[in-house]
Amino acid sequence: MSLTRVSNFSLSLDGFATGEGQSQDAPFGHAGVRLHEWMFATRFGSEMLGRPGGTRGIDDAFAQQFLPGIGAEIMGAGKFGPPGWHENPDWKGWWGPNPPFHTPTFVLTHHVRPSIEMEGGTTFHFIDASPLQALETAREAAGGQDVRIGGGPTVIRDFLAAGLIDQMHVVVVPILLGRGERPLGRTGGPRAGLPGRGRVLAQRSHACDVHAFGRLRRLGRESGARRAFRVRGQAASAGAAFSATTRASASTTRESW
Ligand SMILES: NC(=O)c1ccc[n+]([C@@H]2O[C@H](COP(=O)([O-])OP(=O)(O)OC[C@H]3O[C@@H](n4cnc5c(N)ncnc54)[C@H](OP(=O)(O)O)[C@@H]3O)[C@@H](O)[C@H]2O)c1
Repeated sequence: MSLTRVSNFSLSLDGFATGEGQSQDAPFGHAGVRLHEWMFATRFGSEMLGRPGGTRGIDDAFAQQFLPGIGAEIMGAGKFGPPGWHENPDWKGWWGPNPPFHTPTFVLTHHVRPSIEMEGGTTFHFIDASPLQALETAREAAGGQDVRIGGGPTVIRDFLAAGLIDQMHVVVVPILLGRGERPLGRTGGPRAGLPGRGRVLAQRSHACDVHAFGRLRRLGRESGARRAFRVRGQAASAGAAFSATTRASASTTRESW
C-alpha cells in the first residue's frame, strides 16, 4: 500500500522547523543552516550538494531513506521559495537545475502557474487544493509508490490535522530557536499536535541529534477531532539501514505518551 511519509524533517528542541524572517538570503530565517547541518555533513547531503565525502553513520543511514520508494512529493509554497516568489516568473525553487526530488513534486499554493520540468525527473506542479485532494493527485502520479510530505511546517501541520500522514521521521536538533514555525502545534511544545497516545523509537547519533521514527496508525473509526492515532515504536523500514557498527555507537530509547 502506498504510504504518506515525512522524511529527514528537522526540529529544534523547542519544536521549530524553521526560523523567523525567511528571505531569499535566509531560506530558514534566523535559524540559518543549523537545523540541517546534520544532513549536510552526511554522504547523502554531500552528494546532494555536489561535494565529495560525507559521514556514514546513523545520520547518513536515515538521510538515505529520502529517495527509495518515493513516487511523488507534496510541499508548501513556503518551502518552494521565499515570500513573494510567485511575483518572479523565473523562480524555479532553491535547488538549481537538478532538484533532489527526482519525481513529480506538487507545490501547494494559492498562486498557481504552469508546471516546470526540471532535470533529473523533477517536475514542479502548482496546485491549489485541500490536503486530501493534493494527496489523491500525488498518489496517482506516484504510480503505487509512497508520497513524501516535504514540509514546511505549515503543510506538515495541515496533513497531520487531516490524519493523512502514515509515517514520520523527525530529527530533533539540539538547538533552541525561540521563534519561527512549529509543525506540531503552535503552543505547548513539539508534541502538541499529535493527538492520542503512542510510542516512538528515538535513535541518538554521534552529533547528539535524535532521530524519532514512528508509524502513525489510525485506531478505530475516525470522527473529526476525536481521531486517535497510535505511534508504533519501531525502526521499521529505516531499521534495515542500521549497520552493526552504527547500531553499536548509538543509544536507543523508547518513549510513550
Ligand atoms: N525543518 C525542515 O526539515 C524543513 C523542511 C522543509 C521546509 N522547511 C522550511 O520551512 C519553511 C516553510 O514553511 P512554512 O510553514 O512557512 O510554509 P510551507 O508549509 O512550505 O507552505 C505554506 C504555504 O503554502 C501554501 N499552501 C499551503 N496549503 C495550501 C493549500 N491547501 N492550498 C493552497 N495553498 C496552500 C500557502 O502559501 P500561498 O498562499 O502563498 O500560496 C501557505 O502559506 C521554509 O523556511 C523552509 O525552508 C524546513
